[in-house]
Amino acid sequence: MAKIGIFDSGSGGLSVFRELRKLLPLEQYFYFADNAHCPYGEKTQLYIQRRARFITEHFLEKGADIIVVACNTATAAAIAKLRQEYPDTPFVGMEPAVKPAALGTETGVIGVLATAGTLKGSKYLNTRGLYESNVKIAEHVGQGFVELVERGVLDGPEAEATVRASLKPLLDAGADRIVLGCTHYPFLRPVIERICGPGVEVIDPAPAVARQTRRVLTERGVPTGIGPYSVTLESSGDPAALNRIFKLL
Ligand code: DGL
Repeated sequence: MAKIGIFDSGSGGLSVFRELRKLLPLEQYFYFADNAHCPYGEKTQLYIQRRARFITEHFLEKGADIIVVACNTATAAAIAKLRQEYPDTPFVGMEPAVKPAALGTETGVIGVLATAGTLKGSKYLNTRGLYESNVKIAEHVGQGFVELVERGVLDGPEAEATVRASLKPLLDAGADRIVLGCTHYPFLRPVIERICGPGVEVIDPAPAVARQTRRVLTERGVPTGIGPYSVTLESSGDPAALNRIFKLL
């Protein structure tokens, strides 16, 4: 049985945990929500690196075989540093799904929704650089999305108005693929899809991240599929949001 540590600024990373469980249902999971420091979106790189280091140490004390950085913002700010400082620990991070969007678009325009930290990170900028000569890439911060999810407001008039405001510039630009570049956003997917309407595909990289995690465990010879399954949820702040979203799963 593999020990898998997963962290995010809050409950968003549970959208990655959900996919991991489908592929690896018999592992021991540790999920850490850094609620006391949420959101990460506007924090400095140094701040996020400090938090990522603290959480990594915590997982290593528990004997984690692998750490999944289930947060695009933390991946952008800290994963390179973590790999440098903990060379024996495998880290899997989030990758905004620009590639499948760019390959699939029919209008030639894709939209990326993410936090400010992710959009200005070199990881994303490099990925964008690979595709922007072939497709137009429109970007927008999902303003207020993280806060909605943490409050458990996943649908209804408030969610609809908030989502519409950030999605509109992307749809107006002609995007027919919307990349969810923040792990909180998949919890708003029904609203996002309703506003997008038919003909627009919403892309979440979480299933690919789960496949990559399984691949790394296999490469490292970590036995999986033996069981028993368990999950430990921890929060550095108010765990109410975490419990609320976890129940939905
Ligand atoms: N879930 C996060 C991400 O994927 C963090 C959002 C935030 O804390 O601002 O970027």
